[in-house]
Amino acid sequence: MDKIKIVGGNILNGKIYISGAKNAALPLVCASLLSPNQIVLKNVPQLSDITFLNSLLAYMGLKISEKDEMFDGHLSKTYTYQADDIKELIAPYDFVRKMRASYYVLGPLLARFHHVEFSLPGGCAIGARPMDIHLSSLEQMGAQVEIKNGYVIADAPNGLKGAHIIFSKASVGATCNILMAATLADGITRIENAAKEPEIGNLIDLLTAMGAKIFGRDTSILTIEGVKELHGATHAVIADRIEAGSYAIAAAITKGRIELVNVEAEHLQQPLRTLEKMGVLVEEKENSVVIDARDKTIIGEDIYTDYYPGFPTDLQAQFMALMTIAEGASLVTESIWENRFMHVPELCRMGANINIHGHASAIVRGVKKLSGAPVMATDLRASFALILAGLAAEGETIVNRVYHLDRGYEKLEEKLKAVGANIERIKEAD
Ligand code: UD1
Repeated sequence: MDKIKIVGGNILNGKIYISGAKNAALPLVCASLLSPNQIVLKNVPQLSDITFLNSLLAYMGLKISEKDEMFDGHLSKTYTYQADDIKELIAPYDFVRKMRASYYVLGPLLARFHHVEFSLPGGCAIGARPMDIHLSSLEQMGAQVEIKNGYVIADAPNGLKGAHIIFSKASVGATCNILMAATLADGITRIENAAKEPEIGNLIDLLTAMGAKIFGRDTSILTIEGVKELHGATHAVIADRIEAGSYAIAAAITKGRIELVNVEAEHLQQPLRTLEKMGVLVEEKENSVVIDARDKTIIGEDIYTDYYPGFPTDLQAQFMALMTIAEGASLVTESIWENRFMHVPELCRMGANINIHGHASAIVRGVKKLSGAPVMATDLRASFALILAGLAAEGETIVNRVYHLDRGYEKLEEKLKAVGANIERIKEAD
């Protein structure tokens, strides 16, 4: 398994192009199952999660082609999807266990083909991750849902029906799934307590371009008037706010200056305001954000993760890495996932001073220096937190289990090297 070696201490300086958002691209790709016509997606990031989802959909019969294209000044992938010959309505365990987001096939397949079989994904490193909201909502839309041999088997022989659904939690995944399902349902669906993450706005824009009728974008009440069929469309994936936030911290933790290009600053308001409170200069431009921490003292600050527009849980670990070298203490409260402090013991092995209280809170007391060490993380964002700690630490850090990073950070070493990091991938046979 590959490793990443970092020699810490370099001050990062330059520009980083931000890729298309993984968490936006995954539901967009699955939305192509809703129509027999071509869906063209631009600015799709090159990540193992996307390659993986593509292989599941190709197994089902989706036709997929790709090409390299310039998008907003950087080279990226454009994919064309066509679901005019779907033969398989089963998402097998071997696919789903490797990537939970395969659950995005549920809504589209049930809506268009009235049947789907889907292996239940089970838990993962950051929590139990149930799917009850997805499944009970589909039941409210008239589906019969049965769980058998580890599979969800859902049928809607006469098609899905519009329903008034109130989510118990503002789940991102359930909002995307039920939105997609409702586009082809008979009648009007109203989702209350829907998630408002920018990735959902991106999905609504594609569905609307395909002919769906959706009202309430960016609000917690979504109304969808079902239509008989959806047509083809061309659409672009939005910039990855979590990747952008991660590199913003790379600038801050090395006391450098990085311009993040192709960023929607509006999507990053909480993290950017937090960086300012921590003493970093943030300049928002039309299509970019400059993070300048040169000669700045980083100060401790508290964060509380929450649903958008609250502070994103997917940046909690990275901010914690920055807090380890801040002056004073920081309190981190994780309100979304019940087990998202797996990076703490690894940061402590690098010299950080962090105490976890209960499941949800951690106190970080800043130290003068971190020191390099061999480390590993159990999830994607935690792995990036260790990269950040390695960039700031004295000496050499080896980050193991690089496959996590390959799921969510496109061209990671290339991007960091270009701004001056001493980083390389050590290839190892599996
Ligand atoms: C998505 C993101 C993930 C991010 C999370 C929260 C993708 C592929 N992943 O995950 O990176 O950390 O949003 O911003 O986009 N819940 C239930 N029942 C359900 C569904 C969810 O109780 O049926 C709970 C979860 O346990 C969690 C909360 O709702 O406590 C939010 O989860 P959700 O928004 O669904 O996360 P994902 O869509 O899986």
